[in-house]
Amino acid sequence: MPYLAWSDDLDTGIPELDAQHRVMLDHVNRLHEAAAADNTGELLTSMDALIQCLREHFDFEEKVLDMIQFAGLEEHRGTHESIIAKLGEYRTRMETASAPEAQEIVDALGPWVVDHIRHDDLDFGPTVREWLRDASPPDDPFRQLVGDT
Ligand SMILES: [Fe+2]
Ligand SMILES: [Fe+2]
Repeated sequence: MPYLAWSDDLDTGIPELDAQHRVMLDHVNRLHEAAAADNTGELLTSMDALIQCLREHFDFEEKVLDMIQFAGLEEHRGTHESIIAKLGEYRTRMETASAPEAQEIVDALGPWVVDHIRHDDLDFGPTVREWLRDASPPDDPFRQLVGDT
């Protein structure tokens, strides 16, 4: 059983975003394993991979929200920026953290990544799905972008 398991309540109903969210959880799980094994090198490598993954995912998600002119885009972008800033702080702390401290950091950030999906991303799910249903023609490249084909 992984540290963070996917559950249906994390589903936005937008295939490409859901696929990216699953990869995010995989990164957190690798981070958790590295912390449990007290492997600082692997911990920092996993943290860099998570941050890189989140940067790319957030850029993608903001592009999607921009395309459908989602009203909450700026607020959502702000949340993404604060997550990246916070992870940067955690990354710095990890460099000198003891094993229990590293575990504590991972235990703090794991649920917090999941909460962003569950509470913030699920807010725009219905709007994107509605847009796909009502406004996007069948051959719209946007469908391909979000995996709705
Ligand atoms: Fe988001
Ligand atoms: Fe997301």
